[in-house]
Amino acid sequence: MQTKSIILAAGQGTRMRSKRPKVLHPIANKSLLEHVYDTAMQMQDAAVNIIYGHGGEQVLETLKHLDANWVEQKERLGTGHAVQQAIHLIEDEDIVIILYGDVPLLKAETINTIVSNVDENTLALLTVILDDPHGYGRIVRDGDKKVIKIVEQKDANEQELLITEGNTGILAARGDKLKKWLSQLSNNNAQNEYYLTDIIEMAVNEGVTVKTSHPESQDEVLGVNNREQLAYLERAYQNDQAAQLMTQGVTLADPARIDVRGKFTELGTDISVDINVIFEGENRIEDDVFIGANCVIKNAVIKQGAQILPNSIIEDAIVGAESRIGPYARLRPQAELADHVHIGNFVEIKKSTVASGSKINHLSYVGDAEVGSKVNIGAGTITCNYDGANKFKTIIGDGAFIGSDTQLVAPVSVGKNATIGAGSTITKDTPDDRLTLSRSKQLSVEGWQRPVKKEK
Ligand code: UD1
Ligand code: CA
Repeated sequence: MQTKSIILAAGQGTRMRSKRPKVLHPIANKSLLEHVYDTAMQMQDAAVNIIYGHGGEQVLETLKHLDANWVEQKERLGTGHAVQQAIHLIEDEDIVIILYGDVPLLKAETINTIVSNVDENTLALLTVILDDPHGYGRIVRDGDKKVIKIVEQKDANEQELLITEGNTGILAARGDKLKKWLSQLSNNNAQNEYYLTDIIEMAVNEGVTVKTSHPESQDEVLGVNNREQLAYLERAYQNDQAAQLMTQGVTLADPARIDVRGKFTELGTDISVDINVIFEGENRIEDDVFIGANCVIKNAVIKQGAQILPNSIIEDAIVGAESRIGPYARLRPQAELADHVHIGNFVEIKKSTVASGSKINHLSYVGDAEVGSKVNIGAGTITCNYDGANKFKTIIGDGAFIGSDTQLVAPVSVGKNATIGAGSTITKDTPDDRLTLSRSKQLSVEGWQRPVKKEK
């Protein structure tokens, strides 16, 4: 016995006005369909089947990494027809849950409730009370409030149209039952479609109980049909992320101005995040970290007490404890900073290690370098790491002092406690403890006069 989901994702999404199939549009950098898949995979003994159709090649190509059975629905003949395409993958004892590829915010807890409501004699249905139920199938109940059928908007009579309890489309039942009901569907209705919703009446006629539950919030069951709805659900998702962060002990200057496009593999407490910060990919942020306004933090490790000052960009990099980055700093992939490191404005660090207590405070590029501890790199220093074809390493010893506007032409090393005079071009290894400089002599030209414009 398994809990198998069937995700309906064959829709075209005409109203998106897009070359991209609807289910590939993203919320928080992840496709709508992948959101649904990830939630479905959270169930115990989960197996996922995806019904695809429109833009099939693109969907398969983009999401081939998912561990799912992909089943093509060649013609779009209705939700019942869509489910029929995957029914050969269902065992009699399985519990089957129907999900929609364009309803991305459904929560795992909501799914678990539905699944736990199913037994041999019970079909579980997720319904929602709506202010404006227009377009939804309506849940028709008898005098005892028992569900007796679902009627689609286009097939409903005046009385039925007044019902405000709508069908979310999400339901679950036993495999054997579902197989039987699906084989009995007809398309004798206003849209000439095979409606999945018709199985409700069949179940009731057989004495099967329909047990309903509701989502915690309406946003969980909203679908995406156009870009406005996509933007609405993006915000709903982000509000939820912000709320979760605050629950976990993070201070947000404004929960409406933070975007989390990924997840936290570790999140400390007393982290403080100013406005307009974007987190992408997998981030690990330790206790007492401060992140200033307008930072982008992607796949980063930021250790305890570090401060990231405004307008900094950190990607695939490690920031050591109590370090201070920015404002306007850029840490690129494989920048690894130890504790108490200071990286200042307009400094770019790539594929380099910087040991404890070192400072690179202004306008520098450090790439392919090993910087020792307590090093001071002056303003405008550049590691010339690239000859147009190959990259070379720069090694700077502990305690070195690099004067401003120095070019370190790699491969090159600077000795421990060495001092480099400002404006030097260093092409050869420099010894420990000594001052090294390369600088042409300053001269002042005797009798020189500034040219003057001729008078007309
Ligand atoms: C469906 C329900 C309706 C419910 C509403 C909630 C039926 C008959 N009606 O109506 O009761 O209130 O959802 O949004 O089920 N799909 C396929 N293949 C198909 C048809 C649909 O994959 O042949 C997919 C769509 O891409 C979509 C989902 O199934 O993700 C729902 O289809 P849609 O046409 O939007 O159903 P509604 O008419 O809105
Ligand atoms: Ca719909």
